[in-house]
Amino acid sequence: MAAAPIPTEPDSPERVLVQCISRAQSRMDLWVEFINSVGAQRMAEIGVYRGDFAAFVLQHCPSLTTYYMIDPWRHLNDWNKPANHDDSVLGAYLEEVKAKTGFAAAKRIILRGKTTEVIDQITDGDLDLAYIDGDHTLKGITIDLIRVYPKVRVGGFVCGDDFTRSVWEHKTSFEPTLVFPFAVHFAEAVGATIFALPYSQFCIQKTTGQQFSFVDLTGHYDDLTLRNQFAPQELLKLIAAERFPRLMRAVRKLLLR
Ligand SMILES: C[S@@+](CC[C@H](N)C(=O)[O-])C[C@H]1O[C@@H](n2cnc3c(N)ncnc32)[C@H](O)[C@@H]1O
Repeated sequence: MAAAPIPTEPDSPERVLVQCISRAQSRMDLWVEFINSVGAQRMAEIGVYRGDFAAFVLQHCPSLTTYYMIDPWRHLNDWNKPANHDDSVLGAYLEEVKAKTGFAAAKRIILRGKTTEVIDQITDGDLDLAYIDGDHTLKGITIDLIRVYPKVRVGGFVCGDDFTRSVWEHKTSFEPTLVFPFAVHFAEAVGATIFALPYSQFCIQKTTGQQFSFVDLTGHYDDLTLRNQFAPQELLKLIAAERFPRLMRAVRKLLLR
């Protein structure tokens, strides 16, 4: 009698992510590897800008059948980040996105508006994967995670960019980036596992009844607190380096001698 086949366990997200990391040379490669590995069919990108990520993913991920593109493509008075150009520039970027992803016009659904304005055009549980790359401030990541999480099916993934260890991703004249640590706190609130990945990326798997855990696959996310990053002496150093870059480089050289 032939032996019964041994049931194979589906690969854990951690194992899949580790394999994807080993094959990827960039952020975009990493997500293409991941989307292909999990066979995602329906995804949304929050914050599309000029469509480079969307075009790359649509080109290299044949399993995708639906790609929601969420972006206001307009100037936002309450968003203090470098990509907040004026209406004419952002309007032209939308045309650029349409041209770049024209080859996948049957798969893409353009939802022009802020997350809060358009997200409910997606049915709850519809998505296999959401990629958050919009407003990275505390306000933005709070809204995006809370509003997109219900749109992802159980077992699906909420991923994103700008999971930078430093909140000072841009100059101190801009609002700080708080994807990290906020996404970790969000994962704890909903009882999910969150992975820290190379290229400042994160991935949360939506599960039911699971314990929270933070799995740092980079080994660099050791401090979840904000106190040190906002300490007056650290802020002074940052501002001095921005205002007097050459002087501060010379001082650093002297101190390193
Ligand atoms: C960093 S860019 C996105 C880059 C793009 N994901 C890529 O990889 O090519 C950030 C985008 O977020 C959009 N954005 C800003 N605030 C937003 C909000 N409240 N809701 C949705 N998108 C927003 C901006 O219009 C901008 O196009």
